[in-house]
Amino acid sequence: MHESDSAGSRDFPVDFLFGSATASLQVEGGDTNNTWYRWCELGKIHDGTHCVRAVDHWNRVDQDIHLMLQLHQQTYRMSLEWSRIEPEPGVFSQEAVRHYRYELAALRTAGIRPLVTLHHFSLPLWFEDAGGWLQPEAPEIFLRYARFIATELIDLVQDWCTINEPNVYLLFGYALGQWPPGYRSIRGYFRAARQLMRIHGMTYQALHEIYRAHERPVQVGAAHHLRVYDPRSERSGPRRWVQAVLCRVLDTVTQWMFVRGMTTAGSQRTADYLGINYYTRDRISWSWNPFRLCTRQTVTAGAPVNDLGWEIYPEGLLRLLRRCSRAFPDLPLYITENGTCDAADRFRERYIIEHLQQVRQALQEGIPVQRYYHWSLMDNFEWLEGESARFGLIAVEYDTQKRRIRNSGFRYAEIARSGNIMYTEPDKPIL
Ligand code: FCB
Repeated sequence: MHESDSAGSRDFPVDFLFGSATASLQVEGGDTNNTWYRWCELGKIHDGTHCVRAVDHWNRVDQDIHLMLQLHQQTYRMSLEWSRIEPEPGVFSQEAVRHYRYELAALRTAGIRPLVTLHHFSLPLWFEDAGGWLQPEAPEIFLRYARFIATELIDLVQDWCTINEPNVYLLFGYALGQWPPGYRSIRGYFRAARQLMRIHGMTYQALHEIYRAHERPVQVGAAHHLRVYDPRSERSGPRRWVQAVLCRVLDTVTQWMFVRGMTTAGSQRTADYLGINYYTRDRISWSWNPFRLCTRQTVTAGAPVNDLGWEIYPEGLLRLLRRCSRAFPDLPLYITENGTCDAADRFRERYIIEHLQQVRQALQEGIPVQRYYHWSLMDNFEWLEGESARFGLIAVEYDTQKRRIRNSGFRYAEIARSGNIMYTEPDKPIL
């Protein structure tokens, strides 16, 4: 491991921002008007927990921002709960607006720059029940929400993310039937994909128009879940060749199609940055299951894995950063999520360091990575896995809602504060 030796030298430039990420549904708790509430009520969550509890962030904004400060966070990626802001079609809640204004103002006062996601996997029930993304009016309805909230928050938010991981959301919700709305339809997957890509482009334009009219700067992009796909077989030959073709197909229809479709529309740019969520790699082999696009995903034999069995493969991050910067040399890259499920906090520190080493290497190669958001600030409700999957820099005891910074969290705080992976001076808490 490289240590920064000379005093004053940094692994990361001074304007590189370190932060962490959450999503409203996963942390806020208390909302019953969204699609995941209903999914939990239907008993779909593996460990039987319910998103209505989550980590009560809705009522603990001050405490959580205080913790972010202890962690030396310079930026925070959060999402807005559409079902709270627009509880009925066309009816907007002033209470929800006041709440988010309070949170965003508190972040700014703390010197933490917000990056705000408009849609992170959860939807208002009324929108889903009217046909969700497949209804012809979906673009118009989403734009009504986006325009409204962007105008309300214009003085507090400069960085927007339209949609989180459309590929994961559509794969699980529209093709595999495991997430809301529970469809198993390849046709539905592609139709919804087209719709979401269109909606992203329209939202990009709309937000730019609003900010231009108010003479304020804005950045709009999306967060893409990108995995590395490699053939399962190590030996060259026809089997590996077929697997390599599958990797290509899978990569195109579950990843790259979205990256391209949400970065350019015709000759127009529809992103001011490229958001990359990176966790793992999959080894790909043939399967007869058409709903799985004829692929079977496995882990590299003998590779380290996290609590959920995801391979830990830091080099994958560098491979993706290189690829994205080759494809879009003019776009800044933000790592909008990267993290690991590690309840015992045994390997999170190493995970962070090894992934940041890849980012440092990318920077040395001139790749314009500008931000890193760790997933997640704190333990939270992890979709199908529920409360038992622990991704937080901060551990949360759900029964009491007590928070405790994990050792890996303190370690990440040192990196964020010093801009160095190897930290040399003793830390002074800033509060
Ligand atoms: C990503 C999601 C995020 C979280 C992490 C573990 O795919 O965007 O909400 O669930 O995985």
